[in-house]
Amino acid sequence: MERIGVLTGGGDCPGLNAVIRAVVIKAFQNNIKVVGIKNGWKGLVQTDTVDLGLDSVEDILAKGGTILGTSRTNPYKKPEDVKSVIENYKKLKLDALVAIGGEDTLGVANKLNKENKGINVVCCPKTIDNDLSATDYTFGFDTAVNIATEAIDRLRTTTESHHRVMVVEIMGRHAGWLALHSGIASGANIILIPEVPVDLDEVVAILNKRKAEGHQYSIVAAAEGAKIRTSQEVLKQQELDSFGHVRLGGIAETLAKEIEKRTGIETRTAILGHIQRGGTPSAFDRFLGTRFGLKAMDLVLAKKFGYMASLRGGDVVEVPIQDAVGTLKTVDKKLYDIAKTLFG
Ligand code: F6P
Repeated sequence: MERIGVLTGGGDCPGLNAVIRAVVIKAFQNNIKVVGIKNGWKGLVQTDTVDLGLDSVEDILAKGGTILGTSRTNPYKKPEDVKSVIENYKKLKLDALVAIGGEDTLGVANKLNKENKGINVVCCPKTIDNDLSATDYTFGFDTAVNIATEAIDRLRTTTESHHRVMVVEIMGRHAGWLALHSGIASGANIILIPEVPVDLDEVVAILNKRKAEGHQYSIVAAAEGAKIRTSQEVLKQQELDSFGHVRLGGIAETLAKEIEKRTGIETRTAILGHIQRGGTPSAFDRFLGTRFGLKAMDLVLAKKFGYMASLRGGDVVEVPIQDAVGTLKTVDKKLYDIAKTLFG
């Protein structure tokens, strides 16, 4: 092991720099050079790189985003791009690659590692959505939950003052983890998640009951992927990205219109959007990111390729990348039923 690459792909999240830092420190301790690949897989398609020494990671632990940049590039969209990735891996004389990402980035990593002898990949799981299988938590999620919780706390006072309903739209794509955790943590009166399509009559009944009981306001925490039973998923954009994802967004507006119409209560919306992904990582995400980065380096040093660092219980262990990318980890109905006991 003389030279390894590291890249961050997909949507950025707080804690990415903690992983990069841990990888560089451990590599340095083992006389291994680290090449930073810029902007995810795009940097390997184009050979856009930067050498990473100890100096480059000294002050990045508390910084959000990723010092390497990121993109949603899928090299498997074009055969010539996969070819370039493989050629450039060899041209850069890499002995291994640490790919930090979510289901899309790790899906590419898994395929590359499996299908090409000599392309050695290990992974670290990131995403604010927490929807990767084979790990209890991804880093980035904790920070996003805290941001969303604080935002809802703030929305509560203005909503209360105006005696309104506030529908808060929370990221998470097709998984309701962020909405569920921040909704429970902030005491939202109703939480809506993609895994359990919502019956509008039920929502209206809860809001009307609250009003009848003398409550002056209500907060609805809605995941961006929440679905209204009997109607289509609400999308911001129909076109698919290079990994086949639609852009979600707009559910809060749709819900707010219906709620106001049916209850007669003035209703507003707040879309938390990318604020949830930006800024300083929480201590937990710095800690988890660091542990994942160190584990990834253990795997590199042991030449154990095709594995991902994963949190299981309190332990950081290795799992096959394949186990993380097969199916999305979504919220269990039983867990949602527990949250439902708090509605109203
Ligand atoms: O996967 C992370 C995430 O923030 C999702 O929650 C959200 O739907 C999506 O990325 C937004 O992507 P973009 O930054 O490309 O708009």
